[in-house]
Amino acid sequence: MENHAPRTLKFNPSGFQASVPADAAARADQYASAMMDDGELRYLASIALAFPWSPEALVVEIGSYSGLTAAFVAETLAGAGHANPVLSIDPFERVPHTRKNPQGKYKRYLRTMQERGMEDRCLPLIAYSEHAAPVVPDRIGLLIVDGNHEYESVTRDLALFAPKVLPSGFIFLDDHTDTYPGVVRATGEFVNGSSDFELLHQTYFAILQRSTGDP
Ligand SMILES: C[S@@+](CC[C@H](N)C(=O)[O-])C[C@H]1O[C@@H](n2cnc3c(N)ncnc32)[C@H](O)[C@@H]1O
Repeated sequence: MENHAPRTLKFNPSGFQASVPADAAARADQYASAMMDDGELRYLASIALAFPWSPEALVVEIGSYSGLTAAFVAETLAGAGHANPVLSIDPFERVPHTRKNPQGKYKRYLRTMQERGMEDRCLPLIAYSEHAAPVVPDRIGLLIVDGNHEYESVTRDLALFAPKVLPSGFIFLDDHTDTYPGVVRATGEFVNGSSDFELLHQTYFAILQRSTGDP
């Protein structure tokens, strides 16, 4: 018999807890890729579903590659009755490909959205994040930072986009590992220098949450 019970994830070091319904966990298995594994996608689903979505809020993903994670989040939100859009910021083929910083694939992105029926939910913005920032509204419920992984870029992405995150909104940073010291350093400095964001979880990815804004 199938188990439909939600699974509770515990976040370390914060002790925050969030649940992943069985359908989202099954979807995480289906969407797992070399870019985000099923464990990351489960945590991503849990925070996407923990945010109190209002119709004007949006998901922003910096660095979308072939769009699998964007489609996963859009489908997970749709499954919970939320029609909020996912803005995918990526210059795709304009990015010089290196081993640590792969180049996005725009045709594959379009194919992913077509195959998953997410073309009207996941909206590509073909630009470097620093150029896209001025046109991105300050109504972000979930920000995924997964573009250029160098220290200067991650620092700039956090400086430009974190202020656009709504109260109690989340930031998910991928590749928080020794292989990407710039991600680890930029995340640590941001958390230490911010009175507004709490580090909820850190492992090979990191999750931050903005305070509620209540006194
Ligand atoms: C690791 S991949 C993203 C994987 C994707 N988040 C996923 O889970 O499938 C990194 C992406 O960042 C993009 N990128 C590189 N520099 C960028 C920048 N400055 N702004 C936005 N995207 C960037 C690349 O084109 C590439 O598609």
